[in-house]
Amino acid sequence: MSAETDSNWQAALPASQVVDLGLHAVTIGDHKLVLLRADGQVLAYRDACPHEGFPLSVHGEHQDFVIMCRKHLWEFDAATGEHISRIPRPQCNLQRYPVRQVDGMIEVDVGTAPPPTLVPVSSIRPV
Ligand code: FES
Repeated sequence: MSAETDSNWQAALPASQVVDLGLHAVTIGDHKLVLLRADGQVLAYRDACPHEGFPLSVHGEHQDFVIMCRKHLWEFDAATGEHISRIPRPQCNLQRYPVRQVDGMIEVDVGTAPPPTLVPVSSIRPV
């Protein structure tokens, strides 16, 4: 892998600090992330609920492989970031960042994530 390709990978947290059921806020440059462990795997998402943008690291809960935003109780699959609903809403999924572990450190590729988008509340019908 070239140094240029590697330039988007940034150190986030020691892997040992990403504990089960935790939601860990990390800021890398302009990227506000939430790191968590689901089924033993460390994952990184944009630290913003797709509904109204509240930070999941502050307003979220992580239980039973589900992340719930306590603001309006939206739920997401912790392992995939998919919005859990009877009506599929891919535009409401969490924005996921690539993650790798190098020498015990979690690194996040902050260069490949698409620009953040929030879903206007008026465009979403209640479930
Ligand atoms: S801001 Fe998260 S559910 Fe509304």
